[in-house]
Amino acid sequence: VNTLEAIQTRRSVRAFTAEPVPEDLLRQVLQAGRAAPSGSNVQAWGFVLVRSPGQLDSLRALAPGMIGRPTAAIAICLDRQRAQGARLIAERLVWLDIGIAAENMWLAAHDLGLGACAIGSFHRQAVAAFLRLPEDVEPVLLLSLGYPQSQPRAPGRRPMAEVCFREEWGVPYE
Ligand SMILES: Cc1cc2nc3c(=O)[nH]c(=O)nc-3n(C[C@H](O)[C@H](O)[C@H](O)COP(=O)(O)O)c2cc1C
Repeated sequence: VNTLEAIQTRRSVRAFTAEPVPEDLLRQVLQAGRAAPSGSNVQAWGFVLVRSPGQLDSLRALAPGMIGRPTAAIAICLDRQRAQGARLIAERLVWLDIGIAAENMWLAAHDLGLGACAIGSFHRQAVAAFLRLPEDVEPVLLLSLGYPQSQPRAPGRRPMAEVCFREEWGVPYE
């Protein structure tokens, strides 16, 4: 799919088949995260791939928001030490960087025929300990991955006229 199509058709997939995802595809998803832009190119992130069934079961137990049985997951982590080394403006922007990397991976997964879902609901300290993250590294988002059982329906978005403005806030774009 092309980029615009991928953006419009990507969904949160929460039902997966049991078929494991080949390592090569997971590598491409990780590469898409690595390729993301970041303020001052600070790249204050780290991505932990979890795909062994035992590890996945344990991770699921720590993540109430992880629905279904993904066959892989990526913990998207912020490296605070690396962020502090950057200029102040970059420090404030590192959270955005993480989100951009997550969307890159989500879109890459979709492009590769995989389903994915961002998971914000998980026990941060427990996941950090479970993944043996260093003290300065914190898990921000999990991305569950697998082959989708079906394509979910789009939950819809707020209308264009409510969200997009022209020249100044309140003047509808169309
Ligand atoms: C930062 C973030 C955290 C999310 N956390 C969860 C979660 O914990 N569990 C879940 O099932 N979905 C989660 N989602 C998925 C959203 O519910 C979903 O993106 C939204 O409803 C729009 O649906 P769509 O992704 O299919 O367009 C999260 C999405 C984002 C961006």
